[in-house]
Amino acid sequence: MRPTSQLLLLLFLACILLLSIQTSAADKLEKGQNLTDSNGDTLVSAGGSFTLGFFSPGVSTKRYLGIWFSVSNDTVYWVANRDDPLGDTSGMFVFNDAATLVLLDGSRRTVWSSDFSSGSAAQLLDSGNLVVRNGSSDAYLWQSFDHPSDTLLPGMKLGKNFWTKTEWQLTSWRSADDPSPGDYGRTLETKGLPELVLWRGNVKTYRTGPWNGLYFNGVPEASTYTNMYPLHMTGLTGRSTEITYGYTAVPGAPLTRVVVNHTGVVEPLVWNTDTGAWISFFSRGARDVTCEAYGKCGASGLCNPEAALSGFCGCLPGFSSVSASAWQMKQYAGGCQRDAVLECRGGKTTGRFKVVSGVKLPDTQNATVDIDVATLEECEARCYANCSCLAYAAADTRGGGNRSGYVMWADAIVDLRLIDNKQDLYLRLSKSEFGEPSVSKFPTRIVIIGVSVSVIIIVVLLAFFFFIWRRSHNPVPNTPDNGSPNIALPMRSVRALSYYKRGYRRFFRPKHHWQRRI
Ligand SMILES: *[C@@H]1O[C@H](CO)[C@@H](O)[C@H](O)[C@H]1NC(C)=O
Ligand SMILES: *[C@@H]1O[C@H](CO)[C@@H](O)[C@H](O)[C@H]1NC(C)=O
Ligand SMILES: *[C@@H]1O[C@H](CO)[C@@H](O)[C@H](O)[C@H]1NC(C)=O
Ligand SMILES: *[C@@H]1O[C@H](CO)[C@@H](O)[C@H](O)[C@H]1NC(C)=O
Ligand SMILES: *[C@@H]1O[C@H](CO)[C@@H](O)[C@H](O)[C@H]1NC(C)=O
Ligand SMILES: *[C@@H]1O[C@H](CO)[C@@H](O)[C@H](O)[C@H]1NC(C)=O
Ligand SMILES: *[C@@H]1O[C@H](CO)[C@@H](O)[C@H](O)[C@H]1NC(C)=O
Repeated sequence: MRPTSQLLLLLFLACILLLSIQTSAADKLEKGQNLTDSNGDTLVSAGGSFTLGFFSPGVSTKRYLGIWFSVSNDTVYWVANRDDPLGDTSGMFVFNDAATLVLLDGSRRTVWSSDFSSGSAAQLLDSGNLVVRNGSSDAYLWQSFDHPSDTLLPGMKLGKNFWTKTEWQLTSWRSADDPSPGDYGRTLETKGLPELVLWRGNVKTYRTGPWNGLYFNGVPEASTYTNMYPLHMTGLTGRSTEITYGYTAVPGAPLTRVVVNHTGVVEPLVWNTDTGAWISFFSRGARDVTCEAYGKCGASGLCNPEAALSGFCGCLPGFSSVSASAWQMKQYAGGCQRDAVLECRGGKTTGRFKVVSGVKLPDTQNATVDIDVATLEECEARCYANCSCLAYAAADTRGGGNRSGYVMWADAIVDLRLIDNKQDLYLRLSKSEFGEPSVSKFPTRIVIIGVSVSVIIIVVLLAFFFFIWRRSHNPVPNTPDNGSPNIALPMRSVRALSYYKRGYRRFFRPKHHWQRRI
């Protein structure tokens, strides 16, 4: 080949390269650049996993700006203008001169904007995160991961910052065709031990059970996947201003998401490239779902997914249903009550602890937590020393008893279920439940006997005085004359005996009368 033809070929290749660069969507929006809906403009992340653009959900014709999985374009993980849909395709997404991301409608009114005003470029990362950077700095001035919709992706977080009062939470869509905030929410509750809670409005409908150092204690299945999708809880130790939970994906792990769907189901899903479909992580049978409704068996109840015959509800050991008839009607919300009262003397409980094994721990909202307590023995000693302690458990099960942390319940034991997770609850019961004489039962028995004896004595005395009264007001019992002597004789002898014993003066007064009638 001649040098000129080589040069031509090079030029030709360069042109193709330039063209292909121009046609393939960028992942960045520089200052002054825009995405126009009517042009079908999008940003595509460098690895191609995520796409940002305009879409209409389901049968809706309204336009939203969102980010979706490129492999499944109806799986939108983030929506900018959830509450403010655009009526037509005249919308435009701009990184404006003030360095703010804004969504404008056809009349160039701002429908949505990111809450910052500096930065050099917006970029859609391959994690799905839309970020705004200041120069080449790694810190983000703004990121879509800080504003979750209904989906948690690897790298996102749920939780609270107590200093800025920021809260990261998921909110379901209203319907499949409407991304506006629906009825269901998923939050990380940070009172007591942290745990994820699913809300319908302001009513708890499901909780994962508290974090145990490795996973949420009511979701032991999650531990099977932590090699691919490690779970992270931050801010539990020390004086942290922020407690957050999230998960990550190791490189090469399949695409995944956790979504709170508009029917109130939380689905951990993974993308199956072979079938081109999302499949559920935990294939939970219908049987397991039976114990998931929050507080199903009431206070001090214990839900057992194996116990279909009893409607899955039972009571903790040492407790019985408050209303047996309600339980018969499968209304368990009334819960259970103690069979034998707890004693507490001189600030020390005299009860003992019953181990309830393999449980999703009760709601820790009002529980006392001390993560620095070293051993279970120390936990027991603390619970013994506090009259209000009803139960305790290790807060962190990683050490197998070492550095266990301490969680103590004092007001109620709610939403307890059996589950295969090796977590024990130490339940305080009266000594009598363990076949030992109870301090309280002894006086109870004495009181009952004493009351019965007094009642008998009073009845006898009343009968006696009534007899005297009748005798003095109606002094002529006719029995001796026209009744049977078998009855009259014992009556007379009783009367005589009593009068004699008491030395009662009236005995002598009517003596003549009595003698006369004999
Ligand atoms: C949007 O960007 C295009 C180029 O991509 C440009 O021609 C157009 O003028 C921009 N529109 C506005 C309103 O900035
Ligand atoms: C999603 O993909 C389908 C089929 O590939 C296509 O018909 C549809 O227009 C796409 N929707 C969007 C919003 O890109
Ligand atoms: C952005 O970076 C510049 C210099 O690199 C700095 O002066 C400025 O304060 C930064 N802005 C923000 C919001 O961090
Ligand atoms: C919500 O989740 C349930 C349970 O996985 C599923 O059957 C249903 O199809 C989901 N609904 C939507 C709209 O994704
Ligand atoms: C915690 O205490 C609050 C206020 O007394 C009460 O409304 C709530 O039901 C309690 N939660 C549990 C789980 O006991
Ligand atoms: C016992 O526990 C309750 C509830 O956590 C707490 O308010 C109280 O201060 C404790 N009492 C003692 C003596 O530690
Ligand atoms: C607890 O710690 C002690 C001393 O540090 C160690 O000997 C023991 O094996 C540990 N037990 C468990 C279950 O880790």
